[in-house]
This record gives sequence, C-alpha cells and structure tokens, in this order.
Amino acid sequence: MKIVIKVSGKMTKRANFLPIAEEIAELVHYGHQVIVVHGGGNEITQMLDKLGVETKFVNGLRVTTEEVLKVVEMVLCGTVNKRLVASLQEAGVSAIGISGKDGNFIEADILNPELGFVGKIRRLNTAILENILKAGYVPVVAPVGTDPFGNSLNINADTVASHIAGTVNADHLFLITDVPGIIDDKGEVIDTITLHEIEKIAKSDFITGGMIPKLEAARTSLLLGTEFVHIINWTGAGSIKNQIIHMEKGTTIRRSYTWVM
Ligand SMILES: Nc1ncnc2c1ncn2[C@@H]1O[C@H](COP(=O)(O)OP(=O)(O)OP(=O)(O)O)[C@@H](O)[C@H]1O
Ligand SMILES: [Mg+2]
Repeated sequence: MKIVIKVSGKMTKRANFLPIAEEIAELVHYGHQVIVVHGGGNEITQMLDKLGVETKFVNGLRVTTEEVLKVVEMVLCGTVNKRLVASLQEAGVSAIGISGKDGNFIEADILNPELGFVGKIRRLNTAILENILKAGYVPVVAPVGTDPFGNSLNINADTVASHIAGTVNADHLFLITDVPGIIDDKGEVIDTITLHEIEKIAKSDFITGGMIPKLEAARTSLLLGTEFVHIINWTGAGSIKNQIIHMEKGTTIRRSYTWVM
C-alpha cells in the first residue's frame, strides 16, 4: 500500500515524534511505501517571536514576507526536517529529508501577492521521490517549493501532502493533527464525509484557521487519485494501522459511499 503521512507541525518535538516514528517503521517493515510530509507552524511562530518578527494568518495561511520566508525555510528544512529524519532513524527506518527545492521537486508560483511568498503548486517532479523509495529510504518532505528562478516559496504542508498523495495515487493520506478530526457546530467529530460533501462543509462557520487548507487538501487529493483521507489525532501506537483497518477514528473523507469490490 502507498501511505502518505503528514505530521503536524505541532508534534515535532523529538521526544513526541519518536512513538509515531516507531509506528511508521512498523508500516515500512510490513512492506508499505510510506512518504512523510511535515508542517512546522508552532516552531516557526516561536522563532519569529524570538526574532521579534510579526506574523499573521489569512484563511489558515501564513502571510510570508521576505523576512518570514527566511525563518520558514530555516525552521522547516533545517530544524524540523532533520529532527524527524533523526527520529525515524532512531526507530530503525532509513530516512532522507528533502524540500521542494531538492531535485526541483515542487515547482510553484505565487498564490496571491497579498500573502507574499506563499506558493501554489504548479508541478511535482516525482522522480526524486520514486528514486528515494526505490533505494529503500523513506522520504521526509519539508513543504518549501521553488519558483522558476530558484526562489523559495512557503507552501502549507497539508497542500503539499495532498498533491503528493494524489500524484502517486496513494491508498491513504493521513493528515495527523492536534484535534481528533473535523469538529462540527455541536462539538462532535464528523466521522465520514464524501468528496461531494466537502464543498458544503468547507463553507460552514465551524471551519476556520488551519482546518481550511486541510479540507481543500482532502478535496485535491481525492480528485487527483487518493482513495482515503484521514484527519486524525495520533493517540498512540497502532493509531494509523487501526485506522486503515477499521476507519473508526477521526474524520475519514472518501470519494463516495459506493464501494467497488
Ligand atoms: N471545525 C474544526 N474542527 C477541528 N479543528 C478546527 C476546526 N476549525 C478550525 N480548526 C483548527 O484547525 C487546527 C489544526 O490546523 P493547524 O494548521 O493549526 O495544525 P496542523 O496543520 O496540525 O499543524 P501545522 O500547520 O503546523 O502542520 C486545530 O488546532 C483547530 O484549532
Ligand atoms: Mg496546518
């Protein structure tokens, strides 16, 4: 099976990441092809605060000035990416960290000038991923894209994970975050929705901040060719495996309710 796992930027402290790295190692040892993508929201904010640089979000996306971009790239590609690679290696997996600039992997253009250096994906050159996987490594992707002139662009990690999952026709895309799934206006987790229902839910008042790019990511990914998208909170060993088998936790987003056997 092909499984793309987006790890929240909120759970990337090395001590926190080791247990999930161990589960990823188990999936790899069972023969699944796993691609890891990570965010870095909290750490970027902490570093910007330390440096006294102001930051704000519009519809869940960070407004990225030139100054912010330097910090984004430093934290994502330097600190967070290498820490995840180290945790995976500690768990027994050979991992290789790449950003969208390596091998010209993620080509992007400016999404909206008002957001500054935030990228919209134009093209994924997946050859580098295929080569890394073929060589028996787990790719760990930092969500930084490159424009045609080699400039960096900050891209939401859910968006990157969704394009990768769709392009490689992943069986499962996991968007692992700090909430147990999509929470509705009654405070309950929505368990299953279809591609068709995303549109309606995305317009609801209870979808704000970081959940906006997640729903868009689920939609993109299913349209490009992923089977299932899961928005879950990682709560311990077996969280991913059990979700693949039972789909009982968090929110599962599937193309339709029709099941073709
Ligand atoms: N309806 C909703 N259900 C659940 N969470 C929601 C909802 N609407 C908004 N959110 C917010 O979305 C957040 C998750 O997105 P966020 O971007 O903050 O985290 P992440 O994607 O896991 O981390 P990172 O962006 O660093 O990778 C939750 O913490 C919650 O505050
Ligand atoms: Mg996010």
